[in-house]
Amino acid sequence: MNRRPVRAVAYCAGLVCLTAALAWARAAEPVPTLDPRHWPRLAPVPAPDAALEARISALLERMTPEQKVGQLVQADIGSITPEELRRYPLGSILNGGNSSPHDDKLAAPSEWLALADRFYAASLEASGELRLPALWGTDAVHGHNNIPGATVFPHNIGLGAAHDPELIRRIGEITALEVRVTGLDWAFSPTVAVARDACWGRTYESYSEDPALVRAYARAMVEGLQGRPGTPQYLDAAHVLATPKHFLGDGGTGGKDQGDNLSSEAQLLALDSVGYQAALAAGAQTVMASYSSWQGQKMHGNYTLLTEVLKGRFGFQGLVLGDWNGHAQLPGCSAVSCPAAYNAGLDVLMAPDGWRELLANTQAEVTRGEIDPARLEDAVRRVLRVKLRAHLDSEGAPSRRPFAGRYRLLGAAAHRAVARRAVRESLVLLKNRNRLLPLKPHQSVLVAGDGADSIAKQSGGWTIDWQGTEPNQDFPHAETIYAGIARCVAAAGGRVQLSPSGEFAVRPDVAIVVFGENPYAEFAGDVATLEYSPADKHDLALLRRLHALDIPVVAVFLSGRPLWVNAELNAADSFIAAWLPGPEGGALADVLFRKPDNTVHYDLRGRLPFAWPASPRPPDAATGEVPLFPLGYGLSYGDDGWVRPLPETP
Ligand code: GLC
Repeated sequence: MNRRPVRAVAYCAGLVCLTAALAWARAAEPVPTLDPRHWPRLAPVPAPDAALEARISALLERMTPEQKVGQLVQADIGSITPEELRRYPLGSILNGGNSSPHDDKLAAPSEWLALADRFYAASLEASGELRLPALWGTDAVHGHNNIPGATVFPHNIGLGAAHDPELIRRIGEITALEVRVTGLDWAFSPTVAVARDACWGRTYESYSEDPALVRAYARAMVEGLQGRPGTPQYLDAAHVLATPKHFLGDGGTGGKDQGDNLSSEAQLLALDSVGYQAALAAGAQTVMASYSSWQGQKMHGNYTLLTEVLKGRFGFQGLVLGDWNGHAQLPGCSAVSCPAAYNAGLDVLMAPDGWRELLANTQAEVTRGEIDPARLEDAVRRVLRVKLRAHLDSEGAPSRRPFAGRYRLLGAAAHRAVARRAVRESLVLLKNRNRLLPLKPHQSVLVAGDGADSIAKQSGGWTIDWQGTEPNQDFPHAETIYAGIARCVAAAGGRVQLSPSGEFAVRPDVAIVVFGENPYAEFAGDVATLEYSPADKHDLALLRRLHALDIPVVAVFLSGRPLWVNAELNAADSFIAAWLPGPEGGALADVLFRKPDNTVHYDLRGRLPFAWPASPRPPDAATGEVPLFPLGYGLSYGDDGWVRPLPETP
């Protein structure tokens, strides 16, 4: 008798009992409570300004109820026209990951600037004598990444590997400048999540699992984007509003996007909140709320954390923005009606498509007293405070601002040089048997793998479009990893052949196999296991085929997170975690190869921002899962890069 059915029944019965026991145990545990007094008191940055507050009070006096509520609703440019903005006085607009002028993701920068002018003029007219135009927010999360030709940097996980806050500040400055060139004034970044489970599809948007690194980077990126508070550069024409996100605890949901963070209050404070404390100390003026929950309560409706902690204890004086229809997930709410979100402490709801109804419904809810009048006043005051601090009342139309239309700044050589430095510093060497790397460029090199010549694959999500699937030709001056290798080898008189499948006519001296995850964003990237490509092992077969021919193999792994790749590590002589280097990924070659004179061009300095898993389960002290390579691990060329043969079954 096949024992399998008996065993299966026993297994399932055990599972049912275990699940029931866990549910009972959780039900028996009291839900941890939050006490705002446990949270540090922070001084508001910048300090309150009486003259500014007086100006705001005067504006509030003159605003109609519709103008007030309009400030609290944000629409997506794919769902509102300048003509409608003239009629409906919304306080801000955004372009979501898939929105662009005329719905053309390849629209020229001049189209963005022209549209910014039209929205500005319309909103200025709608604001009447207030003369307060709308803000325009964009997901500039690794450069001004919606604009073909703009400088795009490695995603945050790679920047975390660089351990270089000054680099982060410079990246913020460049990003802000290029956003300004196209007439926009607000960046929905940085993500300051402390990701704890790489199954999460947004792990690559997190700098690190190490809160100390996230703290240092949050400050650097906010100061880079906004300028330093108290200096003339703060929110000047070369800088934009920053948005630490997603408040609070999006990285601690057990690897499920928009999931439930079950951390204790102490963990929430010690891990999830440190990026915000640093960002606020750096003068961040907007914060985006998280889709995720804490202990079963959606963050968009969490009064204690949004109001008593963020605005009370942390002294935040700017505006809290909801995420894309995030308010609709609250009990009793929809995309077009949600008093609960405003009452909890959200100041602006991101209502990409339902903005018109939300405006009308919110006005009615204010009239009916469902939204506390004092809450309404506070929310409008916060929006006006941010706008005046950002000089929206005086800087004129987008195209008349100092850097508007200076299109040569987009992807400028000096900016791309910083991106290439970031690529180099992000690389983490995990294995280097017999010190194969760095390679001599004067030899025959086979470049294989489906990531070798793909800007999309080396860039990941949030690049031109939301999920990041654009063809190479949409990136005017990018360099694929293959192109970078060809550049280095050709300069030394070597020979290079590109063959994604790994076939070759002339036996190479060495093979570089570039492979990894296909692009994704947000929940589209959630996985159930950390095993790399569990259903398709063609990359492993390619590595093994070349290895079996005694061809030295260098594996370059493109991923938005650390994954279980024991078999791939065994099949390679050298293995580099390259993360998502972006359109300047060709800079990787300058690290891989020696100079033509055989000296080392750049050494590797990247160190793991997340522990690397030894099994398909995330490393976790609580479960006893120990990492294969610990947080902070990374080899340089002088190190002994030998790695013992690794188990290839979980
Ligand atoms: C998305 C993301 C958020 C982004 C927003 C606007 O759902 O959660 O990070 O800023 O929508 O695109």
